[in-house]
Order: sequence, then structure tokens, then C-alpha cells
Amino acid sequence: MGIRKIVEIGDETLRKHCKPQEKFDHRLHVLLKDMADTMYKAEGVGLAAPQVGILRRVAVVDITEDHSGLLELVNPEILERDGSQTGREGCLSLPGRQGVVTRPMKVKVRYQDRKGDLYEFETEGFEARAICHELDHLDGTLYIDVMDRELTEEEIKGHIPEDDAQ
Ligand code: NI
Repeated sequence: MGIRKIVEIGDETLRKHCKPQEKFDHRLHVLLKDMADTMYKAEGVGLAAPQVGILRRVAVVDITEDHSGLLELVNPEILERDGSQTGREGCLSLPGRQGVVTRPMKVKVRYQDRKGDLYEFETEGFEARAICHELDHLDGTLYIDVMDRELTEEEIKGHIPEDDAQ
């Protein structure tokens, strides 16, 4: 297992625009494996390459509790957005903080896998939220830049009105 150090807010790396991943080589495969291991260890549902100091368009997402839903997204793009959802969001690069963020309810995504093969799929709900969050990272955008409001420490522990909204 290669656990990488997660860059935290204040580090300029998080504000950079990432370049396309052009080589689908062993180095990319190690990066993807390390990013998944790092995300799982930190109990996150997504991680983008700039969060481990790599300025490439690579992200991993897995919203399942049993780690059965890993998505390895290389050069991902959102082709279509539909509807909206408003709910809480956090980020491994902003530990201890949460905000309320409005995102599309459904997205259609195009990406390359670790071999460079091109795929498209549609997803919705929390997975759509996680994908939008990770893709924002690839352009230097954090959820705090697009959030409706930041949660207080009390709200982070408890129920917020937005939890009922969709
Ligand atoms: Ni994040």
C-alpha cells in the first residue's frame, strides 16, 4: 500500500490547473492505486491527484462503504448536467470543515480508464456530487469557492435543514 500525504488548504498545489494525463503507463497505475489506498485510509469518498501533489487530470471516487464502487477517472469531463441537489460536503484537504453545496442531481461523464480506453456513463445523487467535487479540484476549485454556506461545528455534528432537501 502506498499511502500518500494529502495536501491541505493553504498549499498552492490545490489552486493549480491540472494538465491532461497522456501516458497510460505503470507510473499512472501506481498513482491510481496509491490514490485509492490514501482515500480509503482517510475514509474519504473521493480524491483528486492535486491533493497528493500531482498536477494531472486524475481522480478516484468510491461512495460505497465496502469499497466495491471504485471509479478511476483519467481526463474526466462532465458532458451533461441535469437537475440540482443541495447538501453537505467536506474535503480531505479541509479537515474538520463542511459546507452546504448545490450540485447537479445527474451528470453524464466521459473519462479514460487506466489503459486509456474511453468510456461514458451517467450517475446521480451522491456519486454525481462526489464526481463534481473531484473534477473541480482538477481546475483548482474547492467546494468553499462554490458553497452556499459553511457549517458551524455544531451543525457538522448534527442535523441541518438542507439534509432534508434534494
Ligand atoms: Ni476535495
